[in-house]
Amino acid sequence: MAIYIYNEDEINRVEDACRITAAVLEELGKNVVEGISTFELDRIARDLIRKSNAIPAFLGYKGYPAAICTSVNEVVVHGIPHRNQILRKGDIVGIDIGVKFKDFFGDAAKTFIVGKVNNKVKKLLEVTKEALELGILQCKDGNHLTDISHVIESHVVQWGFQPVHEFVGHGIGRNMHEEPSIPNFGKPGKGPVIKTGMIFAIEPMINEGTYQVEILDDGWTTVTKDRKNSAHFENTVAVVNGIPKILTKV
Ligand code: MF3
Ligand code: CO
Repeated sequence: MAIYIYNEDEINRVEDACRITAAVLEELGKNVVEGISTFELDRIARDLIRKSNAIPAFLGYKGYPAAICTSVNEVVVHGIPHRNQILRKGDIVGIDIGVKFKDFFGDAAKTFIVGKVNNKVKKLLEVTKEALELGILQCKDGNHLTDISHVIESHVVQWGFQPVHEFVGHGIGRNMHEEPSIPNFGKPGKGPVIKTGMIFAIEPMINEGTYQVEILDDGWTTVTKDRKNSAHFENTVAVVNGIPKILTKV
């Protein structure tokens, strides 16, 4: 197995899927308000994806039961939307969405604030977002894959936060998950050399406390072992003419 190199036409098609992904995520963000249920957010996502003539990529994936993941507070990733889960002031919710459009995939996530949160939580979100941005800047010809991993880890540990080890970013394009795996920690200068035409979903999952996680009995919901908060930001990025291009932009 190898890392697929996408041509310009294919990258444009992945970008079409990513544009829908980003637009739906942005719209969902506007709906993150006190009192809404995560189930309602999922319903809105399904409607918007359908209206874009696209397919929710997560729904049915390995049996996953929804179109989006809604990961509240100590939930790291893969929180399942639920009728009885109502967002409250002071919550954070990571929304992760994957879309298939004409045989190509887009994947993106953002962590949103409900009302107001304390400064520590604000910092966690800010630092996770910055880590994603720094990781994206490493997606250029000649770098090694783990240069991405390394900048993400170095940035977050400076602030006392820890990257999750158990889940990673990934290649994407004709499949939602392709090679390579992209850890959010590790030494630089390892792994395959990055080349024009590669497409990556980079997704730092960063914990306020320990990096350790647990998966709940539903088989999906992943929580921090210490039940402290976790943040998640993700973009789909292509290497175009040697440098990174974020595809999940509206
Ligand atoms: N963005 C995540 C990922 O890459 C979400 C997958 S959720 C699932 O893998 F439901 F589809 F598994
Ligand atoms: Co992903």
